[in-house]
Amino acid sequence: MTGMRPTFSLLVVAVVALVACSGPDESASGEEIYMQLCSRCHGAELGGGIGPALGPGSNAAEQSDDYLIVTIRDGRGRMPSFRQTLSEAQIGRVVEYLRQEQRSS
Ligand code: HEC
Repeated sequence: MTGMRPTFSLLVVAVVALVACSGPDESASGEEIYMQLCSRCHGAELGGGIGPALGPGSNAAEQSDDYLIVTIRDGRGRMPSFRQTLSEAQIGRVVEYLRQEQRSS
């Protein structure tokens, strides 16, 4: 029976790796999620880049929470959908992070 253990360990490693690739930790903070998935298009400081700015004074700062949630979940224009990557709770945390940054400065 001990002969099965290395195979089993490999399987566990493979499953963990697969889950890790599918998105941030379920418990990741809004900021962690933003840095991991959004900053490459919207900038680490929310100043924009490939996508529009999301920080203080931006169009996004004037929009409803619903608009932000729907944009992140379903995508918009050239922005990809994060439906497969993020849970509703994670999307909520990213929106909270954006609001917090929009209020600062
Ligand atoms: C591949 C680049 C890319 C990534 C990654 C990306 N976005 Fe976007 N995002 C865009 C583009 C481009 C737009 C503009 C879409 C349009 O209006 O045509 C946009 C629009 C938005 C808007 C609406 C802004 C407005 O003023 O209407 C929000 C909010 C937003 N993104 C949040 C996010 C968040 C949060 C993430 C990470 C979960 C993210 N985006 C990841 C490219 C991206």
